[in-house]
Order: sequence, then C-alpha cells, then structure tokens
Amino acid sequence: MEDLSLHILDIAENSINARAKNIEITLSDNEEGIMTLVISDDGAGMNRESASKVTDPFFTTRTTRRVGMGIPFLKEAAHAAEGELLIESVPSVGSKITATFKKAHIDRKPFGNISETIVILIAGNPTVDFKYNHFINGSKFTFDTKEIREAFQDVPINSTQVLSFIRQYLTENINRKI
Ligand SMILES: Nc1ncnc2c1ncn2[C@@H]1O[C@H](COP(=O)(O)OP(=O)(O)OP(=O)(O)O)[C@@H](O)[C@H]1O
Ligand SMILES: [Mg+2]
Repeated sequence: MEDLSLHILDIAENSINARAKNIEITLSDNEEGIMTLVISDDGAGMNRESASKVTDPFFTTRTTRRVGMGIPFLKEAAHAAEGELLIESVPSVGSKITATFKKAHIDRKPFGNISETIVILIAGNPTVDFKYNHFINGSKFTFDTKEIREAFQDVPINSTQVLSFIRQYLTENINRKI
C-alpha cells in the first residue's frame, strides 16, 4: 500500500464491518519524532484470542477470501518505520488499533490524501459518525461528522453538496498542515 490514508481506509472498513456507529481516527506526532495513528471504534470488538491472532495474515472472519491483510499490512508499515502496532479490543465495547512510526524514517509512508479517505468513508457509510483529529506539527485540527450534521440540519451528509463542503474544508485544514 502506497500511503497511510489507504491504511486508514482499510482499518476503518474493519470497524464498519464490526458494525461500529462511531469511529475516531487520530494522527499525531510528538517532540521525540514519533508519529501515532489511532483508530478506535464502538463496534463488536474481539475476544482476547482473536485480538492476539489478527496480526497473522491467516486469521480472518471474512468468508470470501481466507486471508485478511488489513492489519498485517499496517503492522508491516509500522515496523518498516521502526514503529509498532498495538491492538486493544473488548467484546461488545469496541476496538482500538494503534500504529507508531518514526516520523523522519526514510521508509515511513507519506500521508496520502487523508481528506479524500474521510470523504469516501462518509459517502459510503452515512449512518456512521466519524471524528478525525489531526495533531501534526504543533497544529490541532478536529473534524466531527456530528457537528456537520448539526450545521446542515436536514441536508443528508452524503449529498453531493455536503460532501463537497467536507472535502474542501478538510483539504484546507489537513493537507497544508502535513
Ligand atoms: N475493528 C475491529 N473490530 C472487530 N473485529 C476486527 C476489527 N478489526 C479487525 N477485526 C477482525 O480481525 C480480522 C482481520 O482483519 P484484517 O483487516 O487484517 O483482515 P480482513 O478485514 O479479514 O480482510 P481484508 O482487510 O484483507 O479485507 C477481521 O476479519 C475481523 O475478524
Ligand atoms: Mg480488513
């Protein structure tokens, strides 16, 4: 996978498959040069046994293909940049996937188009609420679909009008702060 935004899409799809109603994505960095991606959800969660197996590509609950690659790929991306992957999950409560990276590592994947990833997630899952926190280079930007719904009242969040507003708003606030 070319960039982090595609990993974000993949990991958030897992949350959607787990019937999450709220998904929070946080990308942050610190003064030690560590970048952290956290994706947490209130979906079905995993028991201890499953959670310990998911970094193995041969563990999947999908039925169409016998190999699950979303989490193993993210783990590989983290390891390539001298980081780690952590999975925390509680059945019926939710899951939290954390990946760390050395930000300046030559093999750390670029951000990619995070705005578009979020727009795709909202467009395809209009009943799910997404929160995105972008805490990079000292800036703090938070986007929340709950606020968008409130602001646009009766206009559906997946209408062309709202989606293009979101795309522009995110692009202005994220892409230039990378
Ligand atoms: N957020 C989550 N909540 C509940 N279960 C999860 C979550 N993320 C992953 N899982 C479980 O871990 C398994 C492996 O996930 P992974 O993304 O690696 O592969 P996949 O989703 O099965 O296949 P792929 O991502 O290649 O389409 C999933 O099948 C699912 O059972
Ligand atoms: Mg997956």
